[in-house]
This record gives sequence, structure tokens and C-alpha cells, in this order.
Amino acid sequence: MENLYNHHFHISKRSRQELHGHNSFVLWFTGLSGSGKSTIANLVEKKLHVSGHSTYILDGDNIRKGINNNLDFTEEDRKENVRRVAEISKLFVDAGIIVLTSVISPFQADRESARKKVENNEFIEIYIKCPIEECEKRDPKGLYKKARSGLINGFTGINSPYEEPLNPELTINSMKRTPEECAEVIINYLKDNQYIR
Ligand code: PPS
Repeated sequence: MENLYNHHFHISKRSRQELHGHNSFVLWFTGLSGSGKSTIANLVEKKLHVSGHSTYILDGDNIRKGINNNLDFTEEDRKENVRRVAEISKLFVDAGIIVLTSVISPFQADRESARKKVENNEFIEIYIKCPIEECEKRDPKGLYKKARSGLINGFTGINSPYEEPLNPELTINSMKRTPEECAEVIINYLKDNQYIR
């Protein structure tokens, strides 16, 4: 970091937030493949969007096709994937936008590092909890089947670990509720805690 300097610009995060008319923060969705992260994030974004909020979704599959297309699913690459998603989230928060991330982010230490990048109350970790048996039954992309037949190495929950969040702001069991109900729980949390009006 030698020879690098922090530039201070005229327009602050607060003034950008004021222009958007709301706070900016990260909704960090974590959970197994097939747990419902992206489906629920999608519904939450829609609800926020129609009620006048500036939002953006950073989705694992999409991000991995672009900025992270040099990363694989080794422990080291997942760590780097999550680090970059966290850095991008920080930029969005600074831009005054509500960012919803949908990445498995299987390691507690990496999620903690992501949390530390933004200010205290700007990181809302949402654990979309779903038993692996149910995720495997859903298997929306046929990936569990491939993993079971040995076509994918190191698939999360099968032969690569998923560390459950220790202290998430929200844990939502996606087996017990419809995606619409899960999204409603999140919107209510944001209202109850004055993130949105
Ligand atoms: S991670 O662990 O946070 O870096 O993963 P992420 O960026 O969220 O990417 C997960 C999506 O990639 C597909 N996929 C795999 N997932 C887990 N393990 C392996 N080996 C794997 N290979 C491909 C899969 O579509 C994941 O998307 P979701 O939405 O979670 O099902």
C-alpha cells in the first residue's frame, strides 16, 4: 500500500444517500446451493424497488461469469470470490445503494471480513437455512445430481464444507415458509430496525 493516498471528494456517502432518499446497506444472503438465496433476494429487491429504493443484486453465478471469471471453487478461490463481492458491496453502499448479495459464502471468517468492510449497522447477514436433503431434492440446476455422480468436485454441502452463521441478523428457514413469506420477514425486519420507512 506504499505510495497510495486517500482522495477526499466533495460528495459524501451521506449526500448520495440523501439524493436517493434512503439509507444504504448490505443484505448479505448466505446458504447452501438451492436454499433459496437468489429467489428470496430477487423478491426483496422487487419490493424495495417498487417502494422507491435504489438497489442492486450481486449474485454468485452472475459475478462469477464476469469480474470473478478467473475463480474456481477451491477454498482459496471462494475466499477471494467473497472478498471481491464484499469490496464491490462496499462501493455500492458508498454510492448510496442498497445491495443484496447472493453468494454461498461458506466460511464464517470470510463473512466476518465482509462485515468489517462496512460500517457497524450497514451489514445485515441473512442465513437462508434449508436442510441439505431438501436442497438436493429441489436441485433446480441439477448440480447435486452432477456432484453425486462425481462430475463436480468440492460441491458445497457434499464434499466441501458450509459453516453455519454464528450470529446472523436473521435466520430464515426456507422450508417452513414460501419465498414470498421469507421476503416479507426481511422487509419487516428492515422497517422494524429503521433501515427503511
Ligand atoms: S461461493 O462458495 O460463495 O464462492 O459460491 P458462489 O459464488 O455463491 O457460487 C455458487 C454458485 O455456483 C454454482 N456452483 C457451485 N456451487 C457450490 N459448489 C460448487 N462446487 C459449485 N460449482 C458450481 C452454483 O450454481 C451456485 O449457485 P447457487 O445459487 O448457490 O445455487
